[in-house]
Amino acid sequence: MQVQAGSRTTQWHRTFEARPARRVAGSIAVPGDKSISHRAILLAGLATGFSEVRGFLASEDCLASLAAMRAMGVAIERPAPTCVRVQGAGLRGLGAPGHELDMGNAGTAIRLFTGLLSAQRFDSRLVGDESLMRRPMERVAKPLREMGGDVRTRDGMPPVDIRGGRPLRGIDYRMTVASAQVKSAILLCALYADGATTVTSPAVCRDHSERMLESAGVKITTEGLTTRIEPPERLMSQSLDVPGDFSSAAFFMVAGLLGAGKGGLKLENVGLNPTRAGLLDILRSMGGRIDIENPRMSGAEPVGDLRVHRSELRGIAVPKSLVPIAIDELPVLLIAAACAEGETVITGAEELRVKESDRIAAMASGFAALGVEHSVMPDGMRIRGRADGPAFGAGQVDSRGDHRIAMAFAVASLRASGPITVRDTANVATSFPGFVELARSAGLDVTESGNGA
Ligand code: S3P
Repeated sequence: MQVQAGSRTTQWHRTFEARPARRVAGSIAVPGDKSISHRAILLAGLATGFSEVRGFLASEDCLASLAAMRAMGVAIERPAPTCVRVQGAGLRGLGAPGHELDMGNAGTAIRLFTGLLSAQRFDSRLVGDESLMRRPMERVAKPLREMGGDVRTRDGMPPVDIRGGRPLRGIDYRMTVASAQVKSAILLCALYADGATTVTSPAVCRDHSERMLESAGVKITTEGLTTRIEPPERLMSQSLDVPGDFSSAAFFMVAGLLGAGKGGLKLENVGLNPTRAGLLDILRSMGGRIDIENPRMSGAEPVGDLRVHRSELRGIAVPKSLVPIAIDELPVLLIAAACAEGETVITGAEELRVKESDRIAAMASGFAALGVEHSVMPDGMRIRGRADGPAFGAGQVDSRGDHRIAMAFAVASLRASGPITVRDTANVATSFPGFVELARSAGLDVTESGNGA
């Protein structure tokens, strides 16, 4: 069955059946990084000259960014699903798209494009699927208006209507949330402003945009929590290899800790940017053994191979400072917490309420269905875990159409007393195409059924 959501069709009758497997093992490589893939397409489209993006994440979210750049006249070829060749239009070379731009489920795309489009000469409108149409947009619209942009939202949410051709000025902006999407939207608009812009974050958040802009020749510096950018004449084109997505690897980090056989589970070529990799510190302080092998740089981004060993986990109070740099990994961290001895407490994570779903509520209802002892707070959760024997009962959980909730509960099957059925899993394709096949190759017993692509 199909439902019309926003302006886009979502297939929703897909289900995972995850049965308890004995162990995971071997060596796998997760697909390319979602955050970097979005940014690579945007910046390549704005650059002067030709760029090749290898290891591009061919997921629905990143394809929405690609389609939007094409709609604005950027010449893009895909000789292979993960290889994208872009002939940049130049900073001032984009054209009016001629129709509204559909960002699908992608929060990153709608925030980044709002920044970029508020600096163009033409008008535009951004929409998305049912989930995206409920995501907060004022956090982006407000600073862009301060810069002189004309950005309108509906009750703070999409559709976002942007009037082009406004003169823009550089601003000094203090964000109230530690959001890389907001920071990046401001930086993109700042490329076109009259004078320098600074953005200050209340806490460290991912810095892929800064790294990539610097590689494109932009004068951009970060001191403490403040990033300063000067508008450039042009962006240099750059070819790059996108590292494996740390957030996708996170599911297998936890799977390895819960069920790796002898020799561990190896995850190849994972992006290890320190503004992303908070989960490593958290899992290690829970007693998890994850070794980094062959650390190296891939362009401006640190990468390495991870070897994950089966470990006895213990509960901890997760330091609040690590929450923004582990925000997308918190659903699967909660699965690890349910399998850790004692209590784990996560606070300061209210942002989880406004992701693709309310992730605190989605995880809590899954825990209730599978018999995990927990209590919910406005900004987090308290979990009493169980390290000996199955931590989860058999049962059925609803992912609420959220890719990360679906994959987290698939991993939970490693410590379940019977099968876990996860409903509404089609959106796994927004970030992790091929998840089921890769999980099976590592030893998880997950199958997918239902209609829809
Ligand atoms: C992202 C930033 C984070 C993250 C999202 C990707 C990005 O969102 O949750 O999945 O690529 O900039 P916020 O910036 O809203 O924290």
